[in-house]
Amino acid sequence: MIQGADTADQYGVVGHPVSHSWSPFIHGMFAKSTAQNLVYRLFDITPDNFRREALRLFTGGVRGLNITLPHKQAAAELVNELTPRAERAKAVNTIAFFEDTSLLGDNTDGLGLTADLERNLGMTLADKRVLILGAGGAVRGVLAPLLERELRELVIANRTPDRARNLATEFADMGQISGCGFGDLRGPSYDLIVNATSASLHGEMPLIPAGIVGEQTICYDMAYGRGHTPFTLWAKSLHAARTTKGWGMLVEQAAESFLLWRGIRPDTQPVLEALAQHS
Ligand code: ATR
Repeated sequence: MIQGADTADQYGVVGHPVSHSWSPFIHGMFAKSTAQNLVYRLFDITPDNFRREALRLFTGGVRGLNITLPHKQAAAELVNELTPRAERAKAVNTIAFFEDTSLLGDNTDGLGLTADLERNLGMTLADKRVLILGAGGAVRGVLAPLLERELRELVIANRTPDRARNLATEFADMGQISGCGFGDLRGPSYDLIVNATSASLHGEMPLIPAGIVGEQTICYDMAYGRGHTPFTLWAKSLHAARTTKGWGMLVEQAAESFLLWRGIRPDTQPVLEALAQHS
């Protein structure tokens, strides 16, 4: 039975900025389709206040939070316990408050990206050459699930090259992975390029050479919003095989968070269809 909002369990997403987030819409649809009595809100919290304000939300009755930029690594330090995939990533995008005593940190980003690439876009990742742009909290969660697909090669390129190199070293036990700066990138073209920098949020584009995009290249921007991003526009101008934005990843990672919180995985298809009208 669905009860009133006053008795609804509270959830939300913490980020800075966060006003662009579609997570309240997505979790609202999930709650309706699975008959769960919950509310889901946006919480804009600055890095300086993250720890104090996040703990205040939980003591105030919030049962679970999604964590987005720039807090994913800070969230891994906040929780009492990490799932194995969050432990590997050292980044958390989902926190569940269990038994009113313990905060569990999980990372559903990797599953979100691979589910979107494989299930929604029909891509096979084995033996592919993959380039990831960016080395922040959003990248940490997707490296292990990608490397588990037995890629031919995974390259991380970042504005600050040392962050990319350090990240590659951290995951070197899992496969062929290296890190570099944008200016070090060379052809031949990649099969998949994922933009995981926050540049699109500022209407900017990482400075990367054109030769890495070929006719077979799929260009995926983790950012989402209406129309093209600077990255998808750039990829289109270079005749990439396909350009796509992160709507599918957003919905699939949200479904995994919902599963952790409520014990039920909602059907993502109706939400993907509803969001397609906004993309
Ligand atoms: P997230 O959780 O989304 O990964 P983050 O940890 O703050 O957020 O990381 C942001 C990423 O976007 C970083 O890789 C950052 O590059 P630096 O490590 O050099 O800071 C990258 N980034 C942000 N703005 C960018 C821009 N205008 N051009 C290129 N890269 C940018």
